[in-house]
Amino acid sequence: MATRKIITNQVAIMGAGPAGLMLSHLLATSGIDSTVIEVRSHKDISETVRAGILEHGTVNMLVDSGISDRVLRDGDRHDGIELRFNGESHRIDFKELVGESVWLYPQTDVFLDLAARRKADGGDVRYSVTDTAVHDIEGKPRVWFTDADGVEYEIQADFVVGADGSRSHCRFQIPEAHRKWYFHEYPFAWFGILAEAPHSADELIYANSANGFALISQRTESVQRMYFQCDSKENVADWDDDRIWAEFRSRVNGNGFELKEGPVIDKMVLPFRSFVHTPMRHGNLFLAGDAAHTVPPTGAKGLNLAIHDVKVLFEGLDSYFRSGSTQLLDSFSSRALDRVWKAQQFSYWMTTMLHTPAEADDFSRARQLGELNSVVSSRHGMAYLAEAYTGWPSP
Ligand code: PHB
Repeated sequence: MATRKIITNQVAIMGAGPAGLMLSHLLATSGIDSTVIEVRSHKDISETVRAGILEHGTVNMLVDSGISDRVLRDGDRHDGIELRFNGESHRIDFKELVGESVWLYPQTDVFLDLAARRKADGGDVRYSVTDTAVHDIEGKPRVWFTDADGVEYEIQADFVVGADGSRSHCRFQIPEAHRKWYFHEYPFAWFGILAEAPHSADELIYANSANGFALISQRTESVQRMYFQCDSKENVADWDDDRIWAEFRSRVNGNGFELKEGPVIDKMVLPFRSFVHTPMRHGNLFLAGDAAHTVPPTGAKGLNLAIHDVKVLFEGLDSYFRSGSTQLLDSFSSRALDRVWKAQQFSYWMTTMLHTPAEADDFSRARQLGELNSVVSSRHGMAYLAEAYTGWPSP
């Protein structure tokens, strides 16, 4: 076997999604070198349609750390959302309730901004790698990979970060006796579409109806992103445009409100569940983002949690390389998990409050409307939603 080329640096990062690239960028601003490896190609990642809501804290990180201010120019600031049920819309005014906003800016654009910044700064990011393996996480970690040209490498680093997404290999490096996994399955999935149509409303509409949940989101002036609750076994081939729009109409239209319809240009089924891996550190391996936790998309928390993990992890690594202190690295897992569990609760709550179980009896349906009414009729109820949606202050 040919000998591996050796790369020596401080941090090896598995995964060039938003978490991995953001961490590598922040480390570079502190003079800490890292190599990022990614099994997918740049093209493949940039063509994947993902969610689109950024908390104000995520936006601040993108702008203040010098990634890009494109989000402020090309993104749309949203000061509220609409909860729609029983044929009526109720606005949750984030700005008025908690003084904050969110930005509609697709994850794909976050990736493009991060990847472009890393490239412009000469960051070491390798896409389309194969045969990755992580060794010795309890000692001096080594990471093996083969680059896109077939050259074999070994990274020797002080720390490895698993930012390798919901199908993470890194988390399996943590011995079973040292980890606990939490799962929650939901009897729902989302049917997601991109449609060529103008905006139907200024803000996002989260709609509950006896026929199930629907979310009316946006992408551009002329392309909209929308979802309706479906069964996880639903087959997109069974849904032509007429059937899709009839389903949306039955869940959202009414009392003078009508969705703007148009040709469906993309459709997909998105199954979801809640997952948490604890702890988020073992030895010199740290997990960040979807590798450690996934949430249902109803609360729009996935990307924002990943960026928060990275913020906390960066503080720990920066402090360690500056002063040798391990204090912030030691508290990384508990600090990150504190927000993860708040987000699990919020996403679970939004999901169960807005989706309609297939077998809902009269009691559960009436109770659900009672729950929705108790939120929109109370400043406290709306403020909880607004604070969670826009992002809790970071302690
Ligand atoms: C989206 O625009 O894709 C989106 C927005 C809000 C969500 C989930 C997805 O809660």
